[in-house]
Amino acid sequence: MSDRILVALDVETRAEALRLADTLRGSVGGFKIGSRLFTAEGPSMVRAMTERGDRVFLDLKFHDIPNTVATAVAAAVGLGVWMVNVHASGGTAMMQAARDAARETAAKHNLTPPLVIAVTVLTSMSQKALHETGVPIDLLDQVLRLAELTRDAGLDGVVASPRETPAIRRRLGAEFAIVTPGIRGGAAAATKDDQERTMGPAEAVAAGASYLVVGRPIIAAKNPREAADAIADSLRSL
Ligand code: C5P
Repeated sequence: MSDRILVALDVETRAEALRLADTLRGSVGGFKIGSRLFTAEGPSMVRAMTERGDRVFLDLKFHDIPNTVATAVAAAVGLGVWMVNVHASGGTAMMQAARDAARETAAKHNLTPPLVIAVTVLTSMSQKALHETGVPIDLLDQVLRLAELTRDAGLDGVVASPRETPAIRRRLGAEFAIVTPGIRGGAAAATKDDQERTMGPAEAVAAGASYLVVGRPIIAAKNPREAADAIADSLRSL
């Protein structure tokens, strides 16, 4: 069992997602629901999980005007989610609105506020793609700048690729949460799928990751629970 492992439920149906959650509960720390599953199955699927006591990371990457993001985060709190995210490039006011909505809505319902984290630069963006959007600086500098903006806005952490994690940890200190996908090799399956810059689970935690988002190495394994337990075992001494 490791609380650090968040399983990406990248499946098509509610039935598959709930079956995986039933299999993996007790071995992992939570489940990530992204825009695919959310769009297909809706908020009732999130509620079904939180009502069973599962920790849900609602990965919808809100990016809109502050009022709209605040109301979306408030709705997420109403679903009982444990972690929610926004785009840091939405700016300080937007991030503060998200943070305030999380705290205020949670207080109103007597709940623990969810962790609110931010995406800095999408890891699918290359240096060239970043330049095309009018941001002329080095990609890692932009990641660090947005991570600092995230911390200064009072958010809890960021999503970061394994390549960015050590620099963010050095710059932002021990308390800042870093959620790292792109986990391959080590105790996780080595098949890279479409991931390029990967790291093994123990290596990623040693590099500063607080949580690991793991999808296919667990959900596409013959025995998902064994796959999750093997990753958890590899993190035990860290
Ligand atoms: O199957 P795999 O382990 O590659 O799944 C990783 C999960 O993390 C997917 O849901 C993917 O969308 C997400 N993710 C990612 N890289 C990012 C941000 C999120 O792989 N930079």
